Amino acid sequence: MSDTLKEKALKEGVPIIKDEGLAFLLNIIKERNCRDILELGTAVGYSAIQMAGLDKDIRVDTLEKNEELYREAIKNIADNGLSDRITPYLIAIEDFRTDKLYDLIFVDAAKAQYGKYLEMFLDNLKSDGVMVFDNMVFHGLIYDPESIRSRNLRNLVKKIVKFREKVHNDERFDIMMFDNIGDGIFVLTRRNRET
Ligand SMILES: C[S@@+](CC[C@H](N)C(=O)[O-])C[C@H]1O[C@@H](n2cnc3c(N)ncnc32)[C@H](O)[C@@H]1O
Repeated sequence: MSDTLKEKALKEGVPIIKDEGLAFLLNIIKERNCRDILELGTAVGYSAIQMAGLDKDIRVDTLEKNEELYREAIKNIADNGLSDRITPYLIAIEDFRTDKLYDLIFVDAAKAQYGKYLEMFLDNLKSDGVMVFDNMVFHGLIYDPESIRSRNLRNLVKKIVKFREKVHNDERFDIMMFDNIGDGIFVLTRRNRET
């Protein structure tokens, strides 16, 4: 099942969440009893399938802009019998709007846009909801961005560093940073939870 999907994705160079990060994410979903999940970054549906596979009451909306990956995700989701609980959207995250509220928003797409995604989807988080960000250490590169020779990569890594500082100092959020798990995972909850 998803193990073959994982192997295929890795073989084809499709970026998917690391095992350790995935186990951590699934634990959060179980512990917090998350039911409605929004995922930014579907790829071939691997993490969405894993999340929805946890419980029959879990529903996942997942966004992907690459048509080829989106089509493969649809097939993989159907092969796993989850078409009724995972809804993939072929759309750029920046263009997606919804009034729906989610227990968990899993952010696993364009790293340079994490700050933007945070502001875009904050109001879609239930008052006790949680936002989870993957790749927060970006293969360890965040520790020494100046040593990166490629300018594009260096700029990307600097944006991640900036995002880390921003959320850390933002009084709207409580943030837990798990730099040693997978590729680094941030778990963000809202401080002001009266809504
Ligand atoms: C790391 S992969 C997602 C992996 C997936 N969550 C998993 O673990 O199985 C990131 C995906 O986000 C997609 N992506 C990047 N920027 C995007 C955007 N602005 N809008 C929609 N999808 C985007 C990429 O095409 C890529 O497939």
